[in-house]
Amino acid sequence: MSDRPADPRTAALRDEAAEAIRAATTLEAVEALRLAWLGKSGRLQDVLRGIGALPPAERGPAGKAANEAKGAIEALLAERLEALRTAREASLADTEWVDATQAAATTRVARGLVHPLAAMRRELEDLCLAMGFEVLDGPWVEDERHNFEALNIPRDHPARDNQDTTWLEGGLLLRTHTSPVQIRAMETRKPPIRAVAIGRVFRHEALDASHENTFHQIEGILVDEDVHVGHLVFTLRTLLSEVFRKDVEVRLRPSFFPFTEPSFEMDVRCLVCGGAGCPVCKRTGWVELLGCGLIHPNVLKAGGIDPARWSGFAFGLGVDRLCMMRHAIDDIRHFAAGDVRFLAQFAGGLHG
Ligand code: PHE
Repeated sequence: MSDRPADPRTAALRDEAAEAIRAATTLEAVEALRLAWLGKSGRLQDVLRGIGALPPAERGPAGKAANEAKGAIEALLAERLEALRTAREASLADTEWVDATQAAATTRVARGLVHPLAAMRRELEDLCLAMGFEVLDGPWVEDERHNFEALNIPRDHPARDNQDTTWLEGGLLLRTHTSPVQIRAMETRKPPIRAVAIGRVFRHEALDASHENTFHQIEGILVDEDVHVGHLVFTLRTLLSEVFRKDVEVRLRPSFFPFTEPSFEMDVRCLVCGGAGCPVCKRTGWVELLGCGLIHPNVLKAGGIDPARWSGFAFGLGVDRLCMMRHAIDDIRHFAAGDVRFLAQFAGGLHG
């Protein structure tokens, strides 16, 4: 293309377009100018339409001028587009850089965390699996047979009074302990059996710093040949020392449960106050941590297991209490209160 167009009309159109194109600072603006000048209803189209009205002698030169102008404008548009693209690429490094060292600090979002009881449950499950127990689950809504009768607690037995039961329609109930899972385990497996169940239980009772109407238990059973109290004590001491990360002080007291014979209660030296006395241990220095014993022959029978050949131990333990001692929490009601200030203290903790 020659620098000076042959026809002054070409020059006039080209100069006018050039001025507009120079003023365009974005790729979009250049595209808009392309339409305004070269589009179907653009400026050049007007010029071309006007040619028909000219005297025949002028039509040729006018058409030529218009075509020259078109070529010139196309060239100007292409040049401007190219210049803008180059400029944009050059500025990318300034406008779109990311400081990789800053990202973590500036994009931090609030994360949920694992509830301390859920973390405790996971840890207990891991420990029990490592000790060779399988982890079972059982229903919250139970029938009388699994919650009471098969556990050697017949109707009218005074032991039912200790379990403040929430009754549902149709003779169903909210399980008052995890012991029904003992029966379910025996019904569905053959000895030797090593199983635990961790889950929620329900008691219809008054609340205080150590009593909730819903809490959690871990139930364990072992059924094999010649099982004795030594196996029971060893297993529990090992489990508790793992949970508390040290050799805890325990004591065994004779007790009574209809489903074990003999029956014991195991106390642990209070880890909140170290034995000095506090609300958690009711100022005794000891926390009643669990019930245990050798499985009563009637219970083995109810589970379909021959008590002449097999024996076993069972234990039931409050997970909430365990968690309170682990973290020095002084009120069981914190767990279900849903206060984020309480829960946030466990951020980054166990599995959190
Ligand atoms: N189920 C008993 C309770 O809730 C605890 C227990 C379980 C005792 C297993 C002995 C054996 O109090």
